[in-house]
Amino acid sequence: MAGKVEAGFPSGIATNQKSTMRGKFITFEGGEGSGKSTQVAGLALRLQKLHIDVKVSREPGGSAGAEAIRHVLLSGAAKPLGPHAEAILFAAARADHLRETIRPALERGQWVISDRFADSTRVYQGVLGNVEPRVIARLEKLTVGELTPDLSIILDLDPKIGLARVTKRRGNAPVDRFEAEEFDFHKKLREAYLDLAAKEPGRVAVVNANADATAVASGVWAVVKERLQPTWRPQRVRDAS
Ligand SMILES: Nc1ncnc2c1ncn2[C@@H]1O[C@H](COP(=O)(O)OP(=O)(O)OP(=O)(O)O)[C@@H](O)[C@H]1O
Ligand SMILES: [Mg+2]
Repeated sequence: MAGKVEAGFPSGIATNQKSTMRGKFITFEGGEGSGKSTQVAGLALRLQKLHIDVKVSREPGGSAGAEAIRHVLLSGAAKPLGPHAEAILFAAARADHLRETIRPALERGQWVISDRFADSTRVYQGVLGNVEPRVIARLEKLTVGELTPDLSIILDLDPKIGLARVTKRRGNAPVDRFEAEEFDFHKKLREAYLDLAAKEPGRVAVVNANADATAVASGVWAVVKERLQPTWRPQRVRDAS
């Protein structure tokens, strides 16, 4: 596959040459206000205490090009173009994010934690947007390739609670593209995430997010310890010469 370019996506992002030094790739998923950003930050701190070098990122975004696309997607500017176009824009952003941020960090040995990733496209544009599974799978193959996360954590929460948290956090700021969807959308979103977890239990873990942030963090840490066995790393000693 090396050197092959498909549909404008550079081949470098479609391969996954695992080396022993490669860091782990963890993604957080879940509905609006389920606590993803809170838990991403908490997990990063916990790993850093073990002296593991962590790169925190997010989607849509995580690189300069992808952050520009993020604005188009979350402002709702792309909504009139339909879910297919949105899925393609998410894929374009993801390709840049992988090329510019995720892959280089993993190759440096850093652990990458992304606040949302490809499962969001499967669920939001695929299940909820009715973009055909084969289109979603094709886009995912082109962008993610073999660089699938080592662990994807779904924070499971009744959307009533999640949306209430988001409303409280937002204050007077406007709702974003996906927060603005009907309540039924958010209920279906939760089901779609749980279906996805049932289909890929090896990669995906569900953590109950209906608890205070500390208790949720304990649930997250239990999964990370069990699945990825993070171990304490001695700090690098400065070269005295
Ligand atoms: N376990 C929790 N219990 C109560 N409130 C929480 C909990 N975790 C996070 N919050 C608060 O709820 C709000 C949403 O949390 P957070 O931003 O982490 O969720 P999110 O999943 O990243 O949301 P979004 O989908 O909007 O990105 C924040 O104001 C946060 O401080
Ligand atoms: Mg967030």
